[in-house]
Amino acid sequence: MFYPASVRIVEVGPRDGLQNEPRTITTAQKIRFIQNLSAAGLQTIEAGSFVSPRSVPAMADSADVFRGLSRKPGVTYTALVPNLKGLEAALAANLKEVAIFASASETFSQRNIQCSIAQSLDRYREVTQEALQNSLRVRGYISCVAGCPYERAVSAESVLMVANELMEMGCYEVSLGDTIGVGTPTRMERLFKELLAQSPASKFAVHFHDTYGLALANILVALQAGISVIDSSAAGLGGCPYAPGATGNVATEDVLYMLHGMNIETGVDINQVAEAGREICTILKRSPSSKTALALSARSRR
Ligand code: HMG
Ligand code: MG
Repeated sequence: MFYPASVRIVEVGPRDGLQNEPRTITTAQKIRFIQNLSAAGLQTIEAGSFVSPRSVPAMADSADVFRGLSRKPGVTYTALVPNLKGLEAALAANLKEVAIFASASETFSQRNIQCSIAQSLDRYREVTQEALQNSLRVRGYISCVAGCPYERAVSAESVLMVANELMEMGCYEVSLGDTIGVGTPTRMERLFKELLAQSPASKFAVHFHDTYGLALANILVALQAGISVIDSSAAGLGGCPYAPGATGNVATEDVLYMLHGMNIETGVDINQVAEAGREICTILKRSPSSKTALALSARSRR
């Protein structure tokens, strides 16, 4: 079986991980979390979200987070933007990259960003054009690629259509979101086959929530398909306020343990990520959902 020699991890803990946490943490604590993650060697960190503070109160301090952050050279710090207002805030925060987020499910699109898929794509076309004119790179997400919390089944045609549109408008990469973690390896394999028939694997990333415990199995299938960018979240934090019942992203520590054990390079120190995850979990008064983090803690106590 062919596997990529190296993988780029997109750390989404400070955004996806913290957007849904019931316990508020301070801006300074967020900044320290992000800095711990960059010190661990993570080169792409989604550090905030310029969305309506009424929709996602936990991300309301994103401008302050970016203002207070000491940015490590070589690290890309990025944030979600749902519209031009969000892009303006990202430009003011001196970001070099932003992420737009569409959905393959109509109902999820309505609940998450208050508009249809078609309306969101029109809006994102404007956002992307403006971002590219300002020399920002734009990444695109597609939510609900394997199922929707409201509609259940989501067609592959819908995923393919949104992927095409995002690439055509100028996204350099499209991250395939299994928002509620319902995908299975055979299902994802079929989806990747269809997507890769129209665009190369180098244009895709995977973003799997681990609700049913199958994220690593699905990542393995993605690697076999040639996809080499993986979104994950330290300690397995995460969830979308508009995806009830869904749990966190696949844990960065678990992904690293699997990849390093397969001799796939990431440039990331697993122990430092685990430590960053433990520290933020102490603040959030919860334990990491990463099996690897728990195993590493147990080993260090022996
Ligand atoms: P809307 O109500 O249609 O927006 O919401 P609007 O343009 O009518 O404005 C309403 C109010 O929001 C106004 O304030 C605007 O100024 C304000 P008011 O005048 O009433 O005081 N507003 C903003 N404020 C700050 N920044 C902005 C902004 N835009 C408007 N950018 C909107 C539409 C898209 C804004 C809203 O629904 C929203 O912000 N949604 C974001 C939801 C979200 O962040 N969800 C979680 C992230 S997605 C996710 O987690 C999935 C992902 O991880 C992949 C996966 O797992 O599948 C990415
Ligand atoms: Mg997500």
